[in-house]
Amino acid sequence: MSTRMYALPVEQTRWEVPGGSTTVFDWEYDEGRDRLLSLYEKGKQKQWDGAERLDWTIEVDLSNPMGIPDEAVSIFGSPIWDSMGEKDRAMVRHHLASWQFSQFLHGEQGALICSSKIVHTVPGLDAKFYAATQVMDEARHVEVYSRYLREKLDLAYPISPGLKSLLDEVISDSRWDMTYLGMQVLIEGLALAAFGLIRDIATEPLASTLNAYVMQDEARHVAFGRLALRDYYPELTQAERAEREEFCVEACYLMRQRFLGEEVWRNLDIDADECVEYMRNSEHFKLFQSHLFSRIVPTLGDIGLFGDRMRQAFADIGIIGYENADLDQMMEQDEKIADDLDRARIEQVEKAIIVGRTAGE
Ligand SMILES: [Fe+2]
Ligand SMILES: [Fe+2]
Repeated sequence: MSTRMYALPVEQTRWEVPGGSTTVFDWEYDEGRDRLLSLYEKGKQKQWDGAERLDWTIEVDLSNPMGIPDEAVSIFGSPIWDSMGEKDRAMVRHHLASWQFSQFLHGEQGALICSSKIVHTVPGLDAKFYAATQVMDEARHVEVYSRYLREKLDLAYPISPGLKSLLDEVISDSRWDMTYLGMQVLIEGLALAAFGLIRDIATEPLASTLNAYVMQDEARHVAFGRLALRDYYPELTQAERAEREEFCVEACYLMRQRFLGEEVWRNLDIDADECVEYMRNSEHFKLFQSHLFSRIVPTLGDIGLFGDRMRQAFADIGIIGYENADLDQMMEQDEKIADDLDRARIEQVEKAIIVGRTAGE
């Protein structure tokens, strides 16, 4: 990726995190857990090529890259937004889209690193198998988000401080389950909800389809985290589980800052404090923020980390509901949407071939 695109040059933002984890071999080659092995089979069968499956010829309008209504812009309705002319609003839309896709991109690199770490730290070979398919998925995600930023948006942002500090904590923790908890459950859970919003409201077809395809993979990754932790957490002591719950509470407080986009406002020299203040009090933004946790809440319940401390924190952040959301059903829906898009694409290609043939006759 060219440094030209960055709001800050990459030389200034290079990042190395010390680890200290233990690599575990497993000599038991014949005994895998059925559910993990069938997830591995699915992971193998559902590989795809971002260069082929997506239509990169689609042109993107930089004045509204995702083709979303202005009501969906986080500062819509604020005095700052109201005082802007169309040129400045177009710049805000462009920078917000670049910032958001940049955070997806950096989160994906984090996922690439975490899934490869899981391959060497997790005890069972069945889990190592699955994690290996995830490594390839995450490389593909880095590839497609990076290409979208480079070819379509022509602008990228550095990693936001909230995501960076959460990644730092997850990657520097040597315990294998903390990689799962931080990445598969929290960071990917939040990302899934954010991808879903773009998939469902963007009218720019490349952004929408790209997110739908990435979600199809991510739904498997969250399922992988659930399967592994659901088996492991009942074996821990109450104190060990409480420590993990506390980690999730802190992470959720950090993550709720993630979509305030402070860096964008500062970079554009717009009054960042006023924007953040407006967003914090906006009902629309509160709803958006609450929706971002829609995948995390039921997963935490599923793995046994949804105690009083967690409930209190969610109430404090303003997130209610989702406890009984059906994760399997959500995953099926993510799969179906991606499959439907494939079908529509194939139909379109077939139609073009027929039209071409008829024209040639
Ligand atoms: Fe990913
Ligand atoms: Fe993932």
